[in-house]
Amino acid sequence: MSIFYEEQSRTITLHTVSTTYQMQIDRYGFLLHLYYGKRADGCMDYLLTYYDRGFSGNPYEAGTDKTYSMDSLPQEFPSLGTGDYRTPACIIKNTDRTYCSDFRYVSHRIREGKYSLPGLPAVYAQEDEAQSLEILLRDPVTGVEAVLLYGVLPECDVITRSVKIVNASQGHVSVKKLAPACLDLVGGDYDFITFYGRHAMERNFQRMPVGHGTSKIGSLRGTSSHQYNPAVILAERETTEDAGACYGMAFVYSGGFQSEAGRDQYSQTRLLMGLSEEQFSYPLHVGEEFQSPEVILTYSSAGLGKLSRNFHRCIREHLCRGKYKEAARPILLNSWEASYFNFTGESLLALARQAAELGIEMFVMDDGWFGQRDSELRGLGDWKVNEEKLGCSLGELIRKINDMGLKFGIWIEPEMVNEDSDLYREHPDWAFVIPGRRPNRSRYQLVLDFSRKEVVDYIFDQICAVLDQGNVEYVKWDMNRSLADIYSAAADSQGRVLHDYVLGLYDFLERLVTRYPNILLEGCSGGGGRFDAGMLYYTPQIWCSDNTDPIDRLEIQYGTSFIYPASSVGAHVSASPNHQTRRVTSMKTRAMVAMAGVFGYELNLNELSDGEKDEIRCQIAEYKKHAALVQQGDYYRLTNPQTDNQGAWEFVSRDQKEALVQVVGIKKHANMTVDYIRVKGLKENTMYRDMETGRLYNSTALMEAGVPKPVLEGEYQAYQWYFVEEE
Ligand code: GLA
Repeated sequence: MSIFYEEQSRTITLHTVSTTYQMQIDRYGFLLHLYYGKRADGCMDYLLTYYDRGFSGNPYEAGTDKTYSMDSLPQEFPSLGTGDYRTPACIIKNTDRTYCSDFRYVSHRIREGKYSLPGLPAVYAQEDEAQSLEILLRDPVTGVEAVLLYGVLPECDVITRSVKIVNASQGHVSVKKLAPACLDLVGGDYDFITFYGRHAMERNFQRMPVGHGTSKIGSLRGTSSHQYNPAVILAERETTEDAGACYGMAFVYSGGFQSEAGRDQYSQTRLLMGLSEEQFSYPLHVGEEFQSPEVILTYSSAGLGKLSRNFHRCIREHLCRGKYKEAARPILLNSWEASYFNFTGESLLALARQAAELGIEMFVMDDGWFGQRDSELRGLGDWKVNEEKLGCSLGELIRKINDMGLKFGIWIEPEMVNEDSDLYREHPDWAFVIPGRRPNRSRYQLVLDFSRKEVVDYIFDQICAVLDQGNVEYVKWDMNRSLADIYSAAADSQGRVLHDYVLGLYDFLERLVTRYPNILLEGCSGGGGRFDAGMLYYTPQIWCSDNTDPIDRLEIQYGTSFIYPASSVGAHVSASPNHQTRRVTSMKTRAMVAMAGVFGYELNLNELSDGEKDEIRCQIAEYKKHAALVQQGDYYRLTNPQTDNQGAWEFVSRDQKEALVQVVGIKKHANMTVDYIRVKGLKENTMYRDMETGRLYNSTALMEAGVPKPVLEGEYQAYQWYFVEEE
């Protein structure tokens, strides 16, 4: 049992292996938040304080008691209109056109297993691995209900939250704001950690103090975005990688979002995660419901590293699905950086032949194989194989590639249309365009209105017709622009369209994974523009960034690792000089960085020297040796490549018997100082052998004093140790 109701104190307590979360139904029926932190028993309502809060609001039933104020009490689901003037988690526009909601406790229910959410991605678990809690709140005046859902996964130290708004009132209402996760912390000094970025430089780590006022990040782009990732951390000021308290929230959603962190007048901290308020106003007719996406919450008292490992485990084991969830992913060669749009069937086959010879396992044909798609200017929406360009049918091409011993994968971008396409000429109203305005273009393309079922159905059929032409074993699902010009002819309110778009996307993806259970899906959005927990429910891996430069990737993969497991991070060895930065790095360095994710290649193999080809053969053997450790092992960050002179990380097996430590140097100086890499996560005082050199090391010394990183010649040198416990 992980969820308990205690009658006398009216507290509900959620326990995981190392954390406790507690709330209380107070004397007026408000649901107050008491505690979230290290596992603890007992009632924590002593944390609630009552002092004269003169100029704050007091609920009417408090009478002359000025010490009772929702403006100072910690809450589970704060709304507008209860006397709390802080940022609310929920705003509803009522039938009488007011914005007040006063949610009070009605009942609750505890059950075995993890709840699921209709039409939305959500954490899942076996019946005996999780428990769920449902709390019904109701506004006694309007009748509108908020059903708070909590899922508890004790082994992962994870609690999930979602909210359903039910219009049990007498008229039409609309949901104007909804944040399924709210965390009110009465004490402590916190930092707000977020992951900002841009195309080709995603998920940079930023840590800033939570001050008075509200810090807000989010996306107005209709997708989770390159610019801010929908996952945040609140860490005590002193918290480091290995010590201190921190809370994480990851939104299981791929559309617009917002996260707000702020200190109130009494220096209490509130953290919210939810849907973007911009262009959002979801209509609910009498009896209708709105189910929010869920947020994954986790807490660590042992620093950021442990917090990340909680997220990794939950995402890897309880969010990713399908045949490839645990299985080793095929080592692929992607054609994009090898030839961009300039290929023929013959040139693809020549590339595939070389790939097969080197031991690569799958060939992926990227953009450019359909319609008139020879550049970014045209063709999106016309999912008809360009047999003239390929010189044969798709089926034939796949057969030839399969005959070489390679699997075959293909690139698609179903949500998009070019104006220069047959689809747009036939159905111009299927793209987001506001009547009377000219639409914003981005990469010369427009976005299809996936909030409309007939559009989703049509594209789904087109894509299936392609996939059915042969033995397709992998699909890269791309999405290369942000949404704009939101107008849907069919919608009863434009305020619902952005969310309905995401539901349309999820519907398509669910149908795809159901119909093709053996296909491995990789997500992509101009690289990592939609790298979120929502997509990972359908695509167990996501192309991490269009930037394949290994030195930039140190920072991108560092930021990504705070929330997302290595098994989700698509990473390829590409050409040098790199196509995005022109930086020159060794094959070894490029491979080491790519091996810290789902490994593959993306370059013209036919241009390589024999020496480089031999290196690739060795890299493939090396990756295969460690693939399970990388995919399923515990991940440790050993340095911060934003500030340290190297990127270093480590994978440790669950049984702590083996560990792979990888390091890439950044700046080079004459007469170099020596950097010592402190290994983490090994058994104490145990002998481990470095399998590269054969040398034996004591693990405590490795963790306390570190191991000197060899001073190698040249810039950006990579080095690794593979430690195995000596029996
Ligand atoms: C995006 C992707 C790339 C590639 C191109 C093709 O930029 O991130 O990997 O697929 O589109 O147009």
